[in-house]
Amino acid sequence: MKITFRLILSLLGCAILITAIFTYIQVKHEEQHLTGELNRRMSGIAAGMEAAVADYLEAGSRERLRTYVEQYTTRDPSISIAVYDHQEAFTDGDGWNDSSRQIQSKYILKSRAGRSDVSGYEYLAGARYFIFALPIYRGEEFIGRLLLGTDASYIDDRISEIWRNSLVQLLMLSLLIILTTVIVMRGSITGPIAQIASWLQGIRLGKDRQPMNMPRGDILGPLAREVTLLTKNLALARASAEAEARLRVESESTWTSQRLRETIRQELGSRNLYIISNREPYMHQRKGGETSCIVPAGGLVTALDPVMRASGGVWIAHGSGNADVENSDRDGKLRVPPEEPCYTLKRVWLTKAEEEGYYYGFSNEGIWPLCHITHTRPIFRPDDWSDYQSVNQKFADAVLDEIRGEDEPTVLIQDYHFALLPYLIKSKRPDARVAIFWHIPWPNPESFGICPWKREILIGLLSADLVGFQIQYHCNNFLETVDRFLESKIDWEEFSITRNDHRTSVKPFPISVAFPALHEPEGKGEAAKASLVRKTVQELGKSIEFLGVGIDRIDYTKGIAERYKAIERFFYKYPEFKERVTFVELGAPSRTHIKRYHDLLAEIEAAASDINWRLQTAKWTPIVYFEAHHNHVTINLLYKASRFCMVTSLHDGMNLVAKEFVASRDDEDGVLILSQFTGAVRELQDALVVNPYDIEEMADAIYRAVTMPDTERSDRMRRMRAQLKEHNIYRWAGNLISTLCRIRVKIPSPQEVA
Ligand code: G6P
Repeated sequence: MKITFRLILSLLGCAILITAIFTYIQVKHEEQHLTGELNRRMSGIAAGMEAAVADYLEAGSRERLRTYVEQYTTRDPSISIAVYDHQEAFTDGDGWNDSSRQIQSKYILKSRAGRSDVSGYEYLAGARYFIFALPIYRGEEFIGRLLLGTDASYIDDRISEIWRNSLVQLLMLSLLIILTTVIVMRGSITGPIAQIASWLQGIRLGKDRQPMNMPRGDILGPLAREVTLLTKNLALARASAEAEARLRVESESTWTSQRLRETIRQELGSRNLYIISNREPYMHQRKGGETSCIVPAGGLVTALDPVMRASGGVWIAHGSGNADVENSDRDGKLRVPPEEPCYTLKRVWLTKAEEEGYYYGFSNEGIWPLCHITHTRPIFRPDDWSDYQSVNQKFADAVLDEIRGEDEPTVLIQDYHFALLPYLIKSKRPDARVAIFWHIPWPNPESFGICPWKREILIGLLSADLVGFQIQYHCNNFLETVDRFLESKIDWEEFSITRNDHRTSVKPFPISVAFPALHEPEGKGEAAKASLVRKTVQELGKSIEFLGVGIDRIDYTKGIAERYKAIERFFYKYPEFKERVTFVELGAPSRTHIKRYHDLLAEIEAAASDINWRLQTAKWTPIVYFEAHHNHVTINLLYKASRFCMVTSLHDGMNLVAKEFVASRDDEDGVLILSQFTGAVRELQDALVVNPYDIEEMADAIYRAVTMPDTERSDRMRRMRAQLKEHNIYRWAGNLISTLCRIRVKIPSPQEVA
């Protein structure tokens, strides 16, 4: 507005100046014109009177002169006449007022200078008068002087009228100037500028990305063009800044659920992530008329639930809970986690016979002992194999159903229950990106070679685009196994296998846990169920100097019996710690339908009571054993209350209890005793590493744990936490999904599809 105001002021100033100059010229011109007219009129009158006045003056006839003058003034009263003789004495006159004498004298003086007439304006009683003086000669003789006067105030009126008209014109012009300026400024300058400003603001705030719409040839057109170019550059700069930020995110060492979400969004766009596992992440169990939703024990669920929470998508798993059906919709679906639903769980229903053959039989009596070197003999029954095949097909149908209509879906298969699934999916959907992650160890070719269906299993796995293992050593074993039993091309540099024109990458992805540890709320009734454990832990915490902890799914691979032996040995070897150390074991029963596992439950229980029977005192129990499934809150409580945690697996793909213990110790205290046969030992090198078959070494490790100085304990824990912080579950999932998404899948031609 300021500029409009200034422009109006300057234009008005110019208009006033020009109007004033022109009006002045007009006034002068008019004055000249009217003076000329007056002059002509007066000289005409004077010329008419000159001869007669000369006669009367020569004759000295004052009477007749008077009559003559009176006749004149009577005929034309606007004229005043004065006659002076040759001695400049007033002889006669009429029509003057008294104050005019002085003026007459002035004109007499003025006209003495020559023979010609003299005229001019004078003001008498405020009114303009025109005075005309004519010297009268006869020959060379000066006879007298004639003075004429007339009212010329009409000239002032005329001049005033001219000024008045000009003022009116000026006012109208000013109005026009103001209006025109405002309209032009609004239309061509301030309006478009406001438009550009709001467009620029939109661009700055990232709301507007359209090019500026400025009419061609407009006054601000060139500016708009430049600004458009500038904003294009800004958009480019912004895009490259975003790309840089993305790269930064990619190169940052700390992975968070947020970063995983961002990575998945970048890699998958709007597509879903499909995870398939045997074990479901949430299981509905009915006991004594009460239904509860539990999180099953085991590393796979521990690891993948945070991934699905971050990515969303569909998790397809066996609905194994006895109240699962009532708690799912008609398609077997429900949104989970129950307290904060963010992904879909699709449950696949299996018959008892299918579960028996596929899960208990082939998966857990066949492949599980085949892959874990614990000297437990695998059992391969043809019927189990046939169930394994049909259940894999059942899951394949469920997956194919879910991914129908989605191009290049991303499918992450979990574990040894689904070795055939990659083949069953890829043969129907070659555009799908399929990875299988093998959570358990992969044995050497000699060990694997005893499986009667080794070729089918390998062919099934090699249909995946990516096969992931926990550690490089398992990848090596896998490549050697394929090399031994299948016709294929193995690239030992790239770690890939090409068979029948299809390439499979084989890579290690060490699985982990959420870091910092997730603090989930407890399910309904869970606290009550866990109250005995908590009470015991709290009481022990008060009465016992050092608590040790073991948390396991009860499995012969976990080395629980060996651990107990080491605890007993510790008390014999270091008796000063009797009544000062208690070991709390939380054992979650698992696969109890299998005899080996069923027997193990009793063995573990018996081993603990035997030791207690031998060592316990009235106020002390060396091993407190709880056989139950426990929730995260209880487990965390125990982790935090403990001086040391024992993970003594005889063979383990990774073992996430070790990592969970470290993740939970935000007080940077506690000692981890870790088996050298776990995958985790490669990352957690500040643990006290033990051979679970060496009871003496384990007993000494317990002694070191309870006698370790504070600083060493916290140094070791701090280093392990730093490792875990960097290599957490989000990094595992991010790397696995990014690697899979960057694999180029072969899209079949329409002929191939037909
Ligand atoms: C291991 C396996 C998982 C399995 C878990 C629990 O961690 O790698 O696939 O889910 O044990 O075993 P379960 O048989 O109870 O599912």
